[in-house]
Amino acid sequence: MADVSFKHVYKQYRSEPRPSVSDFNLEIADGEFMVLVGPSGCGKTTTLRMLSGLEEISKGEIYIGNKFINYVSPKDRDIAMVFQNYALYPNLSVYENMALGLKLRKTARHEIELRVKKAARILEISSLLEKKPNQLSGGQKQRVALGRAIVREPEVFLMDEPLSNLDAKLRAQTRAELIRLHQELRTTTVYVTHDQTEAMTMGTRIVVMKDGLIQQVDTPKEIYSRPRNAFVAGFIGSPAMNFIEGTLILEGGRYYFHNKRVRLGIPEKLVPAIKSVKPGRILLGIRPEHVASEPEVVQRLPDSISAAIDIVEHMGSDTFLYLKLGEQTVIARTGESDTRFEQGDKLNIAFHMEKSHLFDAETGDNISIIS
Ligand SMILES: Nc1ncnc2c1ncn2[C@@H]1O[C@H](COP(=O)(O)OP(=O)(O)O)[C@@H](O)[C@H]1O
Ligand SMILES: [Mg+2]
Repeated sequence: MADVSFKHVYKQYRSEPRPSVSDFNLEIADGEFMVLVGPSGCGKTTTLRMLSGLEEISKGEIYIGNKFINYVSPKDRDIAMVFQNYALYPNLSVYENMALGLKLRKTARHEIELRVKKAARILEISSLLEKKPNQLSGGQKQRVALGRAIVREPEVFLMDEPLSNLDAKLRAQTRAELIRLHQELRTTTVYVTHDQTEAMTMGTRIVVMKDGLIQQVDTPKEIYSRPRNAFVAGFIGSPAMNFIEGTLILEGGRYYFHNKRVRLGIPEKLVPAIKSVKPGRILLGIRPEHVASEPEVVQRLPDSISAAIDIVEHMGSDTFLYLKLGEQTVIARTGESDTRFEQGDKLNIAFHMEKSHLFDAETGDNISIIS
């Protein structure tokens, strides 16, 4: 096992006007499960491929376990990769597919057998070893691909959207298995996904990327509760955080968020952070679970807002209300799955403002946290 370090890494493809990855700095600790997440095209795969050696680095340095690896060939980097498409050899059995990498490395035959059997046991595919890939389901194929990586006993696992080809149920199941696998093997893992749920549930830490730039590196909890900017805040969480445009005003020594429809007092808790900000245009960010719609709760909160129900989405354990505040849509999450709400109903809502975030309307920076 090993730690991984990126120092000021850039990648510019010849055909591209701008770098696809810029000034990428990251220290991954030994045994960590680091998730790179971001929208399509933000540079996740490029970053992973530079670490694997499949892609040249334009500028900067990469280290695996203190070894400078910029010029080390992929096969000498002691990594194993798992991709979205399983890339199994159709003519080889599951056993042979898993053994192939070791065989090419001239590993002793009994050692190969030991490792393949052990990996098969961990992945619960022992009964499939004699089968050919076309006799397997998608989920089983992906496990074989994982098995092929595990038998190598590498310093680092690299995974690029390995669950994307699985249906929703299998994806959730395999996600849980990957978490268990990591708890068992403790191998340093760099995992790429565009899916924020995977990032939140699997990562010991998460790197959120946009346009080739790291936006934030933190634990899932920190990313969720203290997003650095509006992009991170909007990307992580489902349904997404609500954003409302308005201005920050200071009146009689108190701060308010103000627009055509609302005037909301900013709680004392957020004031230390915004003190250095000059009043002006901002975005108020509030997560659906922090929009109160229960009358008892709304009553207790200082500022209530009148809204009209546009859509009611029953999810079983949760209900999501799509509310209209004039032009603006705000999503509220309520635990109730009853039929209390109907489209067109008017109701009063209120925001748990102490949980809200304020973002600079120009830069998107979160101005309500002290970093
Ligand atoms: N081989 C390549 N040649 C030129 N441009 C590329 C190549 N691979 C990726 N890119 C560009 O680099 C950017 C990042 O791509 P990629 O790393 O694949 O993003 P992601 O994996 O986050 O979807 C995109 O704009 C993409 O078009
Ligand atoms: Mg990709």
